[in-house]
Amino acid sequence: MTSGDGAAAGREKVALITGVTGQDGSYLAELLLAEGYQVYGLARRTSLQGTARIDHLAGEPRFRLVEGDLADGGSLHGVVARVKPQEIYNLGAQSYVKVSFDTPEMTGDVTGLGCLRLLEAARRFVPGSRFYQASSSELYGKVVESPQTESTPFHPRSPYAVAKAYAFYATLNYRESYGMFAVNGILFNHESPRRGEEFVTRKISKAAARVATGLQEQVSLGNLDARRDWGFAGDYVEAMWRMLRADRPDDYVVATGESHSVREFCDLAFARIGKPLRWQGSGVEEVGVDEGGSVRVRVDPEYFRPAEVESLLGDASRARDELGWQPKVSFEQLVEMMVDADLERARGRGQGLGAGG
Ligand code: NAP
Ligand code: GDD
Repeated sequence: MTSGDGAAAGREKVALITGVTGQDGSYLAELLLAEGYQVYGLARRTSLQGTARIDHLAGEPRFRLVEGDLADGGSLHGVVARVKPQEIYNLGAQSYVKVSFDTPEMTGDVTGLGCLRLLEAARRFVPGSRFYQASSSELYGKVVESPQTESTPFHPRSPYAVAKAYAFYATLNYRESYGMFAVNGILFNHESPRRGEEFVTRKISKAAARVATGLQEQVSLGNLDARRDWGFAGDYVEAMWRMLRADRPDDYVVATGESHSVREFCDLAFARIGKPLRWQGSGVEEVGVDEGGSVRVRVDPEYFRPAEVESLLGDASRARDELGWQPKVSFEQLVEMMVDADLERARGRGQGLGAGG
């Protein structure tokens, strides 16, 4: 992987991805490279190198990292002016909902204002570019109808979701005010073996794998009743790309149309390692016990949130009808894929976070 200059406009299609070191950024970079793009990934300086998800792209001549930060408008203007991307995917964010309650200002700055800064850079230097904003089903928050569609009203329930609401409307506003091709993908939860370990699915898949290999006894979770519409990240980045290839700019829900509880995710994950669970007790006393009588899952109120999003379920009909997009990986396949990858890692045979995941 090289860090470098070079406006590549006029040659092959050029894309800029913020958040390229994250789960979605890594899958999207792979997709765009496979489609022949020159890909620039915005990465920020950290004291430890955080490129594990994209290290396998090192040496790919059409992939470059560029230095920048969503909290630093000047860096974004510099990168956009130099790279002159035809497509901009804004995936960068402080994306962990629970932490947003602890760092609301930083989350607002990066996740909310960061989008505006990038839109402004696009308007100034590449007004004809196509802009994708990573909007979220968290916008629906305290849901008023189910399933949620593009016309369901928002009710954000966290500093993260409030920041995403700002970014959503900034994107819409640049479309309406300046005629820019700027769109929101309202993506429901999507996971993969590359998912950050703090998110509940990966926390469970990793714990199950470590229990299977004797490295861990049990896992403590928060709200087991929370329900999410979980899909596979590799499927969802394809929807992002399709949105920027559409005839006209619009906002799209991306979801599977199935909702499952955290408890159900645990059921499948522990069944996968041959330790099916039965549930005993209720509330904070509830435990998931395996056939040998060992407690594998318990509840710890530390993982509760000041305001919870209890249940999300998306209706992606518009994406299906207008973009021809639909998910390929089922919930069961997703859980198995994640547990199997974590089993490989727990046994010391894993391929890391990038290639193969
Ligand atoms: P992720 O794994 O947490 O990745 C977030 C990315 O943002 C990382 O590359 C991170 O860089 C980068 N970032 C953080 N702060 C930054 C800053 N100040 N300047 C520049 N980059 C910064 O998230 P993800 O799951 O891939 O999600 C991608 C996007 O989709 C996010 O905007 C998220 O909010 C949104 N979204 C995700 C889901 C989901 O279920 N995954 C659903 C709806 C929407 P570092 O590696 O340096 O931290
Ligand atoms: N993280 C976590 N850890 N969540 C837990 C736990 C736990 O130990 N126990 C229960 N949960 C519940 C949370 O309270 C929440 O209701 C649900 O599991 C999912 O939590 P996360 O996996 O942290 O994801 P999220 O839904 O809050 O946010 C993710 O999806 C959004 C899209 O709806 C993130 O990727 C966001 O960036 C994204 O916008």
